[in-house]
Amino acid sequence: MNPKLLQQVYDPDGFRRQGHELIDLLANHLESSLKGSGDKVINYSGPEEEMKFWGGFFKTGSGSDFFQEVLRHTTHVHHPRYIGHQVCAPAPQAALCGLVSSILNNGMAVYEMGMAPTAMERQVTDLLAHKIGFGEGARGILTSGGTLANLTALLSARKAVLEEDVWLEGHGNRLAVMVSEEAHYCIDRAARIMGLGSDGIIKVPVKADFSIDTSLLSQAYEEARSKGLHVFALVGSAPSTATGVYDDLDTLAAFCKEKGLWFHVDAAHGGAAIFSEKYRGTVRGIDRADSVVIDGHKMMLMSTITTALLFRDGNHSHTTFSQEAEYLLQHSEEEDWFNLAKRTFECTKTMMSLQWYLLWKTYGDELFDANVTTLYDLGKTLADWIKTDPHLELATAPHSNIVCFRFVDPGLSSGKLDQVNREIRQELLEEGMFYIVQTRIKGIQYLRCTIMNPFTTEEHLGMLLALVREKGSRKITA
Ligand SMILES: Cc1ncc(COP(=O)(O)O)c(C=O)c1O
Repeated sequence: MNPKLLQQVYDPDGFRRQGHELIDLLANHLESSLKGSGDKVINYSGPEEEMKFWGGFFKTGSGSDFFQEVLRHTTHVHHPRYIGHQVCAPAPQAALCGLVSSILNNGMAVYEMGMAPTAMERQVTDLLAHKIGFGEGARGILTSGGTLANLTALLSARKAVLEEDVWLEGHGNRLAVMVSEEAHYCIDRAARIMGLGSDGIIKVPVKADFSIDTSLLSQAYEEARSKGLHVFALVGSAPSTATGVYDDLDTLAAFCKEKGLWFHVDAAHGGAAIFSEKYRGTVRGIDRADSVVIDGHKMMLMSTITTALLFRDGNHSHTTFSQEAEYLLQHSEEEDWFNLAKRTFECTKTMMSLQWYLLWKTYGDELFDANVTTLYDLGKTLADWIKTDPHLELATAPHSNIVCFRFVDPGLSSGKLDQVNREIRQELLEEGMFYIVQTRIKGIQYLRCTIMNPFTTEEHLGMLLALVREKGSRKITA
């Protein structure tokens, strides 16, 4: 055993030196990425090749090259031609909070292990609840991702709506939730984790614009009841993931009220529209939800993972996981809001409130308004251009910064069109000048753009469309 090893690992001077070097490296990366000059967004290599590289690096690579290599082998979300998945280009200040969280490593389960971030968590979730339009008595938590937050919300719903206590007694009834067929897959997964099975996930069809068809709610609900299912919750998407289309939350809220259902809004992507003066209308009715999920790492310029789950009636935020673990969670008659593990699925979690608090305190609501409004405006522009191009076709008019479209040609069968669009996307990926993704909607292959970077300009979008058109045309004449 090397007795000096541990001292070496924790050497403050080494940390200072490496830290300064790293910040310089990242600042340079940020500078060149944001400019988007000639650099690629992604230096794509396949999984086997990547495994080989990192296997070799483990044996012979120099530690001093480590961070540089990580940069070379990852996707650059600060690049304005990054128009891919729904993770933002984090504000550098948010990333610094992540570093602080990593070094302080307060586990957040109980108050003493995270005094400042616990108080900040309460403050930012109170502010967010207010911004949503919830009244006094609303409460929230921060948790590790929209997926986990949606599961937590459905667990809260089950606890609140059912007379039986499933937490203590297990299932008696056959339970079900209603959701749009276009909802994010994590709702389906949450329902299955809760033991609802396939019958317990009632997928309501969408209209031609891909929002939930509210005219079918009653029929779907009655059919479920006639099969002996007890529907306890309905989930609205704000917006849905594939097409970025918002459900009509007001109508869903009214339906839930009439039937006595819990109304959950999965606003992981687009809940931030509450900050946009221009687009706030997209979430009309969100204040009538029982619970709402908003991801900080999607439209609010934070690093992964920073999700907020808000409850209109805060009492639900501390009854979901009623459990005793004497070494950690002592029973308390009072609502000890400051012992956060009582309210979250996690025991240990990161100090994610630092990011919410610092960005919000420094820049105010205006920052989130600017981000959402800029990105949603760009989504509209992109869609307008697609509409006027005979070789391009929109899946649907976007409500947000998610835009799905495809290359079309009247001479090609639908199978061939799918193949051409798949190939276009693969070429784009391998060339690395743009990063966009793809999806299948109603059995059709689409190119999917999510404009996440406020430094993406109309010029970049024009270049992308020209490239898609050129690639598509080359393929049909080949
Ligand atoms: C509508 C919606 N809900 C939930 C999620 C999952 O969130 P997370 O990736 O934070 O777990 C996503 C992710 O894309 C989403 O778009």
